[in-house]
Amino acid sequence: MIYPIVKFGNPVLEKPAERVSNFDGELKKLVEDMFESMYAAHGVGLAAPQVGIAKRLAVIDITFKEDPDAKLVLINPEIIHTEGRHTQNEGCLSIPEFREPVMRPRKVTVRAQDIHGKFFEKTGEELLARAFVHETDHLNGKLYIHHLSALKRDMIKRKIRKLMKAGEW
Ligand code: NI
Repeated sequence: MIYPIVKFGNPVLEKPAERVSNFDGELKKLVEDMFESMYAAHGVGLAAPQVGIAKRLAVIDITFKEDPDAKLVLINPEIIHTEGRHTQNEGCLSIPEFREPVMRPRKVTVRAQDIHGKFFEKTGEELLARAFVHETDHLNGKLYIHHLSALKRDMIKRKIRKLMKAGEW
């Protein structure tokens, strides 16, 4: 099942999500649906609040289907180590059409649970590191525009409000 992607303006995107505690068939189905929804939206990462589900769960595939081993599921993730800095354009499926340079750590280690509830650690660099912090931010109710200057952020919000008024958001 493909979920529609929730856009900026929906409060579910700006509140902390709840920890996942049931590692059951329902969770497995949700993970499958989230991958399907992410690919349908041409994204490389998707957090559960972006499909309207306030749970601490995200899926990532920075290779976009090229490498099946690159599919990652992060449940209850915590960033446990960061290193360096790296600035690159960043976007979000919930804020379509906008991209801005954002400074992020160059190397990030995340600790999370898999769909069976087993804990694991994974270190990523550059785009994967960016996906780890971007998706974990989502689960804390934080969007990438929060990392921009107030001026830039307000400019984007103004443009979005205009699109909303025009019924184009
Ligand atoms: Ni996002």
